[in-house]
Amino acid sequence: MAIQFPVERFADIRTPFYYYDTDILRQTLDAINTEIKKHDNYFVHYAVKANANLKVLKVINEVGFGIDCVSGGEIEQVLKAGFPANKIVFAGVGKSDWEIELGIDKDIFCFNVESIPELEVLNEIAASKGKVATVCFRINPNVGAHTHANITTGLAENKFGIDMQDMEKVIRLAQSMKNVQFKGLHFHIGSQILEMDDFIALAHRINDLQDQLEAADIHIEIVNVGGGLGVDYKNPQGNPIPNFKDYFAVYDKYLKLRPGQTVHFELGRAMVAQCGALVTKVLYVKENAIKKFAIVDAGFTDLIRPALYDAHHRIINLCSNEAEETYDVVGPICESSDVFDKDIRLSKAHRGDLLAMLSAGAYGEIMASGYNCRPLPKGYTNEELN
Ligand code: LLP
Repeated sequence: MAIQFPVERFADIRTPFYYYDTDILRQTLDAINTEIKKHDNYFVHYAVKANANLKVLKVINEVGFGIDCVSGGEIEQVLKAGFPANKIVFAGVGKSDWEIELGIDKDIFCFNVESIPELEVLNEIAASKGKVATVCFRINPNVGAHTHANITTGLAENKFGIDMQDMEKVIRLAQSMKNVQFKGLHFHIGSQILEMDDFIALAHRINDLQDQLEAADIHIEIVNVGGGLGVDYKNPQGNPIPNFKDYFAVYDKYLKLRPGQTVHFELGRAMVAQCGALVTKVLYVKENAIKKFAIVDAGFTDLIRPALYDAHHRIINLCSNEAEETYDVVGPICESSDVFDKDIRLSKAHRGDLLAMLSAGAYGEIMASGYNCRPLPKGYTNEELN
């Protein structure tokens, strides 16, 4: 079932706004659950960076998933949404002291530590509170992902994680500290990955590293493979549920686990992208000698992915069934990058028509900014509009 738009209920809502179809969200969560239930040692932590809207978070929390946070603000937001602290993993290459303190005070499940200086600070802060913090090390596996350069993270040139060859030394250091407890390894190779071969390459790297550590008599409990599964931006209506079956099958098949190990996944985009859309109003239709522009009231302040990553979100006209015409869909901001898409086919657009930019549930609302003093877009669900 594709995302549904109750257009008649949109009449009184100020545009642009985000609209979330919780039926699609629930179907997506069910699809994930179906796969992970096949294993009693698989745990999913929703990567809240993709979308921290409270209404969306509450639906995800109903399913019982854990959470992946990358800031103190995210920790506060997910606690507000009702997620239990003991299912929070906390990653990030630059954690501030107050963020570390918050994680320790709340007894979160695990800190994903990205450097030795961070480990030392974590140990100190935990000691000052008389606590022991659980630690996984984020490893830079040097695996390239077939995705946009701005969202690949697992290469040696990226700032993330600790090099594979330094792992043993860093683990020994952690084991010598009193207020951290080393439990496992954390990986993440990038985002919007559709080629399962990339995840297979990661599984092989993890196996190699585990062999190496085992030979040094180091044992791990937690294997966190990160997130990264992509979605179909070209045909979201025909293909709204990502390929979770193949994704989890990769790890079933290729990851060699030791008894008692748990596998943790940090899915963001795949969970929420397809349930959300940015709804915007056509302000003007302007024609020149070579182009027809649909000028809309949303700008890159509301959805920055096209301007930042050359991303294409499918755009549909919710108010017209007339024959399609070719448009550039552009926003009102005085920057030439404020373009959502060029030369796309759209049912004939008129002033006042509502357009929906699909697959915008992930990295949409959460990346909005107030540039030009534009108000932040609000998010609504089908449930509250009914
Ligand atoms: N875990 C870690 C450590 C991450 O850095 C990320 C995303 C995730 C999990 C979740 O990845 P996902 O399952 O969503 O692919 N703003 C960009 C995406 C940035 C992703 C950053 N890290 C975009 O709009 O495409």
